[in-house]
Amino acid sequence: MAKIGIIGSGSWGMALSVLLYNNGHEVTVWSALPEEIREMQQTHRHHTLPDLVLPDHMVFTEDLEETMTGKDLLVTAVPSVYVRSTAKRMNPFCRYGQVVVNVAKGIEESSLMTLSEILEEELPMADVAVLSGPSHAEEVSKSLPTTCVAGATTRKTAEYIQSLFMSEVFRVYTSPDILGIELGGSLKNVIALAAGIADGLGYGDNTKAALITRGIAEISRLGTAMGGKIQTFGGLSGIGDLIVTCASMHSRNRRAGILMGQGKTMEEATNEVKMVVEGIYSAKAALALSEKYEVSMPIVEQVNAVLFEGKSASEAVRDLMLRDKTIESSDIPWE
Ligand SMILES: NC(=O)c1ccc[n+]([C@@H]2O[C@H](COP(=O)([O-])OP(=O)(O)OC[C@H]3O[C@@H](n4cnc5c(N)ncnc54)[C@H](O)[C@@H]3O)[C@@H](O)[C@H]2O)c1
Repeated sequence: MAKIGIIGSGSWGMALSVLLYNNGHEVTVWSALPEEIREMQQTHRHHTLPDLVLPDHMVFTEDLEETMTGKDLLVTAVPSVYVRSTAKRMNPFCRYGQVVVNVAKGIEESSLMTLSEILEEELPMADVAVLSGPSHAEEVSKSLPTTCVAGATTRKTAEYIQSLFMSEVFRVYTSPDILGIELGGSLKNVIALAAGIADGLGYGDNTKAALITRGIAEISRLGTAMGGKIQTFGGLSGIGDLIVTCASMHSRNRRAGILMGQGKTMEEATNEVKMVVEGIYSAKAALALSEKYEVSMPIVEQVNAVLFEGKSASEAVRDLMLRDKTIESSDIPWE
């Protein structure tokens, strides 16, 4: 049995808390929102996952020190926009060598840093790792079979995380490619917005397959230029997460895209989805990274034009279809 602190009690933090508790671990959950902690203490329910019953012996607290002290593992599960501010709050209580596994997905718009890079900057004493893959909280909370990959700088840490999370309904693989895992997990949200927009416009399965396939081509081009490994983009945190995010109604990015495809503005769409739509932040970051690394990302460009320049979704699709003719893959020679 391990002692685990969960930092952030949104949907994903709570689905993982119950998974880890059911694996026999002692789980303490912290939230930045006191009313959220009170509600869980009183009702043993969480507002975004109404079917999930929170166990009697799970601890809910507003006290970050209590959540972090003496823990074998810390899980950071706050939305990406709060990762830096939360890490700053964690700093005074973090011990040397503390394993911190980040399960949020995103890129910081101002610095273009991945979330594990932010955690390493704010918690230099920690052993920072990631866990990512095609894993909607709604399904994990119902114990539906799910797979993820744990990325860490050492095999020992990756295997430790694997051993804590693995169960008959949650299979975990290991990888040393933290950067590739994180880039796949955050950039897919931008492609999911495009897939939603296509659905909202009434396009079909052909269009969806095109966006997924060309989307992973863009993600892989940028990801490898930044130092991620090509195999990772063909794995669970790459194509796996992209498929689930582009196909599932659980994806808030896709849902926001659908509303925009139906003619709503970005503000109207995000208000209606009522949750942080991380793809909107990642879209700007992805465009800036594509310029920095001089990598062509036509879908990312068009998503940005729709989100921030008032371009109509149908015009964006037309421009994608009619852009310069090209080959499918640059590394297959003609002989
Ligand atoms: N939901 C999923 O299925 C899922 C799956 C895999 C990864 N993720 C990733 O996990 C992260 C969290 O996602 P989620 O679905 O749990 O998000 P969510 O929208 O459910 O998170 C909202 C939570 O954020 C926390 N919060 C609010 N204001 C805060 C503040 N100022 N500081 C710190 N925390 C604050 C609160 O606990 C709130 O409940 C995201 O990066 C997401 O991409 C989510």
